[in-house]
Order: sequence, then structure tokens, then C-alpha cells
Amino acid sequence: MSGVSSINDALRVEHVTLELGGRAILNDASFTVQTGEFIGVLGPNGAGKTTLMRALLGLLPLTGGSIRVNGEAVVRGNPSIGYMPQIRSGLAGRRVRGRDFVAMAADGHHWGLPHASAAIRADVDRVLDLVDAHALAARPLSELSGGERQRLLLAQCLLGNPKVLLLDEPLISLDPRHQTGVVDLVRRVQRELNITVLFSAHELNPLLNSLDRVLYLGNGRAALGTVDEVITKPVLSQLYGSPIDVMRVNGRIFVMSGDVEIEKLDHAHEEGDDGHEHEHEHDHGHDHGHGHKAKGKHTHNV
Ligand SMILES: Nc1ncnc2c1ncn2[C@@H]1O[C@H](COP(=O)(O)OP(=O)(O)O)[C@@H](O)[C@H]1O
Ligand SMILES: [Mg+2]
Repeated sequence: MSGVSSINDALRVEHVTLELGGRAILNDASFTVQTGEFIGVLGPNGAGKTTLMRALLGLLPLTGGSIRVNGEAVVRGNPSIGYMPQIRSGLAGRRVRGRDFVAMAADGHHWGLPHASAAIRADVDRVLDLVDAHALAARPLSELSGGERQRLLLAQCLLGNPKVLLLDEPLISLDPRHQTGVVDLVRRVQRELNITVLFSAHELNPLLNSLDRVLYLGNGRAALGTVDEVITKPVLSQLYGSPIDVMRVNGRIFVMSGDVEIEKLDHAHEEGDDGHEHEHEHDHGHDHGHGHKAKGKHTHNV
């Protein structure tokens, strides 16, 4: 939130306006994320979490303002960003072995052709190590649990040694135990590599022990700060555009609108809604990421 630029800025978002279908999803938003921060990205369904990540990837033009990623202008296919898109359906049915699945996301382009395959093998080994997934490497995806598949998806994002990870709702459809496992794993890897993580989620509580700061989106605005700074009645009421209460119970935080817990409300909404996430020309016979892949080479997967 400081006005001074620093070499430690992983993301610098200044007066950014993002529009979709003629509507401002973000309106003159400014915030700065430091290198090595774990940022929980929260906000009601449709607040623009996915849209913001797509803008950081250069997949969506800015209507106004500027974004720097590690001090550089946004570019498509930025090798310093690892991206886990929100759409990940269809993985559970796949017979492909864990290792091959991770390797599919490797892009030989980073290494130059002659040595590509050896370099890719080494990098696949490195990322499998990082997420402790060697035991999963020989097993088909279809035999893995949701949490185990998530570990391999994280491995994919780590290929090529990115400095920033954009993880879009990695906890969706995981049970609470696996959710904790995924958050802990991301936190451990993030610290080990001193990389920056943007981790979007519906619910704050699974992230509470791991995040450094929260980026809360709503009503076209963005609030970045510590949990104590952002998860407050005045800040959230402004972001939701309606009166919000914040309750703390046994180390957990509940964001309430009237007597309804707002995150549960969102979630219920999403489950019945096949909505805009399939806006891209998406091939449902395959896994996630195709729509993105067609536009940039970020998405890992086939
Ligand atoms: N291609 C599109 N055209 C118009 N509106 C869109 C498009 N894609 C998403 N939206 C809208 O943009 C808003 C932000 O969406 P999104 O970034 O997916 O929110 P979140 O990830 O926070 O749930 C939503 O209101 C959504 O309906
Ligand atoms: Mg989203």
C-alpha cells in the first residue's frame, strides 16, 4: 500500500481498472504484494478473483492503470508465473500416470530443444520432490484422492521455477482434511522457495494459519492488508456494499450478512451454477486449461 516502488515488489497493481462485458470488475484498484508473501485472495463469487489472475497473466487487457510483475510489465507466457486455473474438472477419470501428467505441463521451450527432454525430466523430478509426490508418480490420476491430484497440480505449477504462483481456488471440492493438507503444502513450498503466492479461496478459515496478508475483492475494489486490518466490519461492508458483521469464535472467523454466513451462501450458489467459468471455448472432453492455452501458454495441462 506504500507509494514507493521497491525491488521487493512481486506484484505492483496501480489504479487498475478491468472490464468484462462493459462492466468494471475492478475499478481503480491499487495494491502491492511483496516477494515471498502468501496472500489469500478472497471475495464473494464474481468479485473478480479469477479475472485479476488472468490480468496478471496478460490474458486480459487492462482498461486502465498498470501492473508490474517482479518489476516487469505484464506479458503473456511469463515464465516467472506459475498458474493453477480454477477449472480442473475431468481429472478424476484420467488413466495417465502422475509423473506423465506433471511432465505434460513442461514446456520444452524454456530449455531449448537439444537438451529439452533431459532438462524436463530433471525439472519434473525436482517438482515431484518439492511436493513430496514421488510415491504418486507411477499411479494413474484416477486412483488418486482429490488431495493427491492437487499435489500434482501444484507440481505442474512449479515447473520452470516460477517466482510467483497464482493458485485459483485450489480447495474447491476438497474435504476439510485435504484442504488443510493442500494449504500446508503450499505454505511449506512457498517458504522453501521464497516465492510469492496468491491463493484464492471461498473461505478464509482454512487459510488463516498460513497467510501473511489478505487481498479482499468486492464491489470493484481491492483491500490488501493483514487479517486484522481487512476482515473488519467497515472494510467488508464497503466491499460487499451491504452491512457485514465479523465474528471470531475459537480462532475461526465468520463473515456474516444478517444471520447468514456469507461464504456458505456463495458456495451454495456456485454449486448450482455452471456459470461464467466456462466462458472460454472450452473442450469438455479434456481437462482444464484449454481455453487459456489457446490464448497464452500458461496453462499446464493437456
Ligand atoms: N467473459 C466475460 N464477459 C462478461 N463478464 C464476465 C466474463 N467472465 C467473467 N465475467 C464476470 O466477471 C465477474 C468476475 O468474475 P470472476 O473473476 O470469475 O470472479 P470470481 O473468480 O471472484 O468468482 C463476474 O461477475 C462474472 O460473471
Ligand atoms: Mg473464480
